Amino acid sequence: MIKDRKYLLPCCLLLHGILIALLTSTAAAATSPSHSNANTKAIYIVYMGDRPADESSTSLLHTNLLQSAFGSDVATTKSVRYTFQRSFSGIVIDLTEEEAAKMAEMDGVVSLFPSEKKHLHTTRSWDFLGLSEQVERSNSEGDIIIGVFDTGIWPESESFHDEGLGPPPNKWKGTCKTDNITCNNKIIGAKYYNSDNLFFPGEFISPRDLDGHGTHTASTAAGKVVNGASLYGLASGKARGGVPSARIAVYKICWFTGCSDADILAAFDDAIADGVDIISISVGGSTPKDYFRDSISIGSYHAMKQGILTVSSAGNDGPLRSTITNFSPWSISVAASTIDRQFLTKVQLGNNKVYEGLSVNTFDLKNKMYPLIYGANAASNDSFSSSRARYCSTGSLDPNLVKGKIVLCDIVASGSGAFNAGAVGTVMRDQYPYVYAKSFPLPASSFELVDGNQIFSYINSTSDPTATIYKSTEGTDTLAPYVNTFSSRGPSPITPDILKPDLAAPGVNILAAWTLASSVTGFDGDNRVVPYNIISGTSMACPHVSAAAAYVKSFHPSWSPAAIQSALMTTALPMNSGINLEAEFAYGSGQVNPVKAVNPGLVYDAGEIDYIKFLCGQGYSTQLLRLVTRDNATCSEATNATVWDLNYPSFALSTSPSKALNNSFKRTVTNVGSSMSTYRATVTASTGSIKIQVTPNVLSFTSVGQKLSFELMIEGKLDKSLVSASLEWDDGKHKVRSPVIVFGSIP
Ligand SMILES: *[C@@H]1O[C@H](CO)[C@@H](O)[C@H](O)[C@H]1NC(C)=O
Ligand SMILES: *[C@@H]1O[C@H](CO)[C@@H](O)[C@H](O)[C@H]1NC(C)=O
Ligand SMILES: *[C@@H]1O[C@H](CO)[C@@H](O)[C@H](O)[C@H]1NC(C)=O
Ligand SMILES: *[C@@H]1O[C@H](CO)[C@@H](O)[C@H](O)[C@H]1NC(C)=O
Ligand SMILES: *[C@@H]1O[C@H](CO)[C@@H](O)[C@H](O)[C@H]1NC(C)=O
Ligand SMILES: *[C@@H]1O[C@H](CO)[C@@H](O)[C@H](O)[C@H]1NC(C)=O
Repeated sequence: MIKDRKYLLPCCLLLHGILIALLTSTAAAATSPSHSNANTKAIYIVYMGDRPADESSTSLLHTNLLQSAFGSDVATTKSVRYTFQRSFSGIVIDLTEEEAAKMAEMDGVVSLFPSEKKHLHTTRSWDFLGLSEQVERSNSEGDIIIGVFDTGIWPESESFHDEGLGPPPNKWKGTCKTDNITCNNKIIGAKYYNSDNLFFPGEFISPRDLDGHGTHTASTAAGKVVNGASLYGLASGKARGGVPSARIAVYKICWFTGCSDADILAAFDDAIADGVDIISISVGGSTPKDYFRDSISIGSYHAMKQGILTVSSAGNDGPLRSTITNFSPWSISVAASTIDRQFLTKVQLGNNKVYEGLSVNTFDLKNKMYPLIYGANAASNDSFSSSRARYCSTGSLDPNLVKGKIVLCDIVASGSGAFNAGAVGTVMRDQYPYVYAKSFPLPASSFELVDGNQIFSYINSTSDPTATIYKSTEGTDTLAPYVNTFSSRGPSPITPDILKPDLAAPGVNILAAWTLASSVTGFDGDNRVVPYNIISGTSMACPHVSAAAAYVKSFHPSWSPAAIQSALMTTALPMNSGINLEAEFAYGSGQVNPVKAVNPGLVYDAGEIDYIKFLCGQGYSTQLLRLVTRDNATCSEATNATVWDLNYPSFALSTSPSKALNNSFKRTVTNVGSSMSTYRATVTASTGSIKIQVTPNVLSFTSVGQKLSFELMIEGKLDKSLVSASLEWDDGKHKVRSPVIVFGSIP
């Protein structure tokens, strides 16, 4: 999950592992006991590009493919789990490795790959972005539909009440699968996808959200205004989505075991045909894949073809370079930045010293002092050396020794070890603590070593150490916004010269709606069932940009996905490369600014043909691209565009140090501001060793919709790991800013 719920992973991957192991071993045993792998089937996606004009010829393609692969073997065709034919073409089918290899070679197949699991990677945040409640709204905001691909939704949340909203817009063709949920004029569609039919005990076989994550992201994007929301008084205020009148279409693709590629593609196939305007997907994989072997990249390509913008989260695997998981040029990738609010939790010791740590602590110990014990001194038995107990890992603490006490642990983890052993609270110290406030199932605060070591010394200095933990208070983070360490960084592992991520948005300590079927942390024994919860992750950042895109689209319904993306990027608030060491690889163009994005002046537009030229230049074959596009796309020298000429609203150049640079980027901007306007280019660069020139450096427009081209040249030599610069077109009213980044391998 892109929010931090690591505890889910061990339990469920393990469960998944057992189930998979059982299934595969019985299948193998039944058929070929000695060569156990040959007949083991796995779920494969057979991606066949765009769909032909009518659905019946699409299913004919599927039938023909299956027949030429397997003859009329009905047993095999039975294992088809999905056929995609509403928005693009493909099937999901169980195949042995041998069958898969054979099928991959067949005519009409663009790519064939196993369905793997991806993972899921307030209200203050909208005010912080300058999108106040009073901001000007378009009358057509209610026509905008955001498709949320996530863990489902808790439909009864006050955030999803529909008073004041009329019936869904006419273009809506989706449906509401009413298994245990009711749609309304806010939630206008709800579906779920579970291709492998594995359900964790207690999971809702329904679009209903057991986890909370999907409810949180949907309400961040389009929840209505709810007064007096808070988590036990913390982050108290109005909870609201960025576009409170927009509609939500729920596509539940994530379950306890993760989010499978097959389900993601099935949801794209539906959502595009259903008529959503924006797709918000806070989910990512772990290994970077080629554009047409990744479900989110394939799905968002076909969405783009139909005028639908996909917004995805960058991932939570930062802070190292190239950890980003969603990076296709036809979608937006969002990093997580901080807002100015943070949560601080004081710990008072028996010597009256008070230390302030980080956590979201809703518990109130009422100033009562409890015995304080170091985990290493509370090991459960001899076989557990104190080397594990000092980290308070699960089962390592002796309940008799920690019961009724506060435990000091040498790592900032989930707190479940101390919680399960019956501790009253936990104080955690770590060389690398979480750099944001997290919720724990018991009273807790977390510290870096400076303060953590003081607490340890105190324990070690007295025979009767005591402490108490206070409820969290809200503090101000004056450095905000900056990108948190967990947020995945660029460059793109596949195309480093397309700058990714594109934008940053609030993803730290976000209050939004929650499921009533779980608790604040989701741990067994955590009884805090809450309507609003505070969590962090690039998952939380993504719906901020989805809503910003919806907001722009409500003013400009005819704009292409690339035009909306450009408007969001060129108006973003530049961020500080001094406190974000990876600079643009952390935040892209900067922090999204929805209000400014409505009126960007110029846009860098692009359509399918531009992406095809880019793909030709990346070496994709004509044959493959013809299937993807279902037209006569041909890669030739004339259409073979270099990556630098894709009409992208940012500029990136990878190089090796000391190589002499002389690179040209061609761009075309479309005037969407005043008809008569003259824009002048300014380039700012952080270094003298790189020279950036723009020709022409004045663009004079005489009409709206007019397009003018220019060239940006980069010359010189890279003398450090990364040079940040920017190009700004300014007509006196609009500033159209693009980051320019030149980088080499890390020295
Ligand atoms: C339906 O939802 C309710 C919560 O509103 C839950 O308690 C119940 O178990 C669900 N039923 C099924 C069949 O999932
Ligand atoms: C120590 O605890 C572990 C886990 O509870 C248990 O498996 C082991 O048998 C115990 N050893 C002794 C010596 O009690
Ligand atoms: C203090 O720490 C030292 C070394 O870490 C240890 O030997 C000693 O027993 C500790 N004293 C107390 C009171 O825990
Ligand atoms: C593609 O080319 C074929 C043969 O040249 C032609 O019949 C067809 O109309 C073309 N299709 C498109 C979409 O241009
Ligand atoms: C297009 O460019 C790619 C990458 O440079 C190259 O592999 C391919 O052969 C080129 N195709 C044509 C038709 O020029
Ligand atoms: C850089 O390339 C341009 C053509 O794209 C050429 O006119 C110019 O002389 C080159 N500059 C250097 C220093 O090689």
